[in-house]
Amino acid sequence: MSQFLSQFKRTHTCGELRASHVGETAVLMGWVQNYRDHGGCIFVDLRDRFGITQVKFDPAVDADAHARADRLRAEWVVAVRGKVASRGSNTNPNLATGAIELEASQLEIFNSSKTPPFQISEHTDANENLRLKYRYLDLRRRPLQDNLVMRHRVAQLTRNYLSDNGFLELETPILTKSTPEGARDYLVPSRVHPGQFYALPQSPQTFKQIFMVAGYDRYFQICRCFRDEDLRADRQPEFTQIDLEMSFVTPEDIFSLVGGLLRACWREAKGVDIGAEIPRITYREAMDKYGIDRPDLRFGLELKDVGDIVAKSDFQVFKSVLASGGLVKALNAKGGGAALSRAEIDKLGEVATRYGAKGMAWVKILKDAWQGPAAKFFSDAVKAELTERCDLAEGDLLCFVADSFKVTNDALAHLRLAVGDKLGLIDPEGLAFVWVTDFPLFEEETEGGRYFSKHHPFTSPAPEDMDKLQSAPGEVRALAYDVVLNGTELGGGSIRIHDQDVQRRIFELLGMGHDEAEAKFGFLLEALSFGTPPHGGLALGMDRLIMMLAGVDSIRDVIAFPKTQKATDLMTDAPNEVDPAQLQELHVAVRKPAAT
Ligand code: AMO
Ligand code: AMP
Repeated sequence: MSQFLSQFKRTHTCGELRASHVGETAVLMGWVQNYRDHGGCIFVDLRDRFGITQVKFDPAVDADAHARADRLRAEWVVAVRGKVASRGSNTNPNLATGAIELEASQLEIFNSSKTPPFQISEHTDANENLRLKYRYLDLRRRPLQDNLVMRHRVAQLTRNYLSDNGFLELETPILTKSTPEGARDYLVPSRVHPGQFYALPQSPQTFKQIFMVAGYDRYFQICRCFRDEDLRADRQPEFTQIDLEMSFVTPEDIFSLVGGLLRACWREAKGVDIGAEIPRITYREAMDKYGIDRPDLRFGLELKDVGDIVAKSDFQVFKSVLASGGLVKALNAKGGGAALSRAEIDKLGEVATRYGAKGMAWVKILKDAWQGPAAKFFSDAVKAELTERCDLAEGDLLCFVADSFKVTNDALAHLRLAVGDKLGLIDPEGLAFVWVTDFPLFEEETEGGRYFSKHHPFTSPAPEDMDKLQSAPGEVRALAYDVVLNGTELGGGSIRIHDQDVQRRIFELLGMGHDEAEAKFGFLLEALSFGTPPHGGLALGMDRLIMMLAGVDSIRDVIAFPKTQKATDLMTDAPNEVDPAQLQELHVAVRKPAAT
């Protein structure tokens, strides 16, 4: 143990000292940010997670400390004891501690450091893989520290808010059985039971419902979920949810509770009032107007279905799509006809094709003519109708996509974002929260008459649609809702099925026979038969919530130890090969894919 530590305590952080401390003796501990020898005096910027303080080693103050300071290099860990002195007219306005410096009379070197592979600075050009390999160095950087501090504060306030609202923080197992959230499971082989596997939870969904059966009427957990799926900027294979469930509630109760939590997050973490009510939009309206169930409502630019109008044009592409039951929708990029060059319009077309469209037809609305590849197909009557439906004016750009429901909406939803961005319509500081409600119970696309849950199989059908479960399952709406912010799905939930017969019918529609349903969810069906209260809940993606609060684009910047896009951990080098003996014990035979 260092003698210094038993003799002296750290008196202040490196971000704390001000002019009012001048004359006091202080002990600081931290990392050497940089080192300057000004002949005579040595200046060191000492850094910890709170800030930076300039330390001056003056041979006239202490010759020994000055002599040893000469060895210091970046990232060495030291303690310095000395007097706080004013920097007089040499104040550094860029540092919170810039009015003072510490005149060192004692230097304790705890440890040296290898030269870091990148500089520990606010901004870095270091490549992300290098930063992930040396994550402990990356985490010394201010922006990541700010994000993790934000994460801590949100976790803290979530616990307080939910506890104050009568919730119990309860844990659920990690080694468990597959839960159906729609991704692939991570499996863990059982040593004790050859050929059998645990699944890591994709969410605590079934367990939180069972808490309701057990009478713990308000549950929450800040929990880890595991999903083996393709990763994106806002997806990780293991991520954190603020997961909650309540008994005896309606969707309104959940909206108001979660709205309150989000309000508290923005108020306490950002000092921002997000307003009393989060607006709502139905799934149908969101798809019609924005082509997506998580619309970015910071700007307008609504899509219009123009199928009935263009059916009267001479454009064969549109007509054949309509004839085969597809959709033609248009987006008026307001002012884009005047503002965008041909090359820029082509770039927008590439956005549409990236999301599956076979093309993007467009017309520029000029003073006395329509110009563009689609213009020639439209008669004056069709032009007049399009002008009215799409609110066209001189200088506008009208973009069309014709395809299936899914492709048309997908392509135009992304096109809308690209146009909003290009035309500068998206306020980066804007906050557009929205509840998306009335989701369909099942996905639009069925496979061989088999349905897929839009949310998960425990979601309750809307009571008024219950009679369509048999006759028209595709039209049944669910008591399901997502909360969306600026086009990102922050969370989702639903009122659950609390009747075992309804639950069985849903499993059947999902193509699960009696035996399969028993094998997979028998425990839940059984639990439902022992006095299950009506219940519902929701889970917020905590990482996404922090991303939004911190204003960062990558989920990896708000997770201390994230995985790469290829689901690897570059610091620990996971996943890795294991000892053959371990595999044997687990009854696992590995067959590697043949090298190609
Ligand atoms: P859902 O699957 O919608 O619902 O997940 C809830 C929220 O978790 C976040 N999320 C993710 N964040 C990062 N990486 C991922 N791979 C990832 N997947 C999801 C999203 C999402 O809105 N059990 C239900 C909740 C319920 O019904 O109560 C569930 O897990 O922000
Ligand atoms: P073409 O008749 O193939 O030369 O296409 C004329 C214009 O229609 C081009 O600008 C294409 O990008 C566009 N286009 C082609 N297919 C589609 C489609 N399915 N939806 C919208 N526009 C399309």
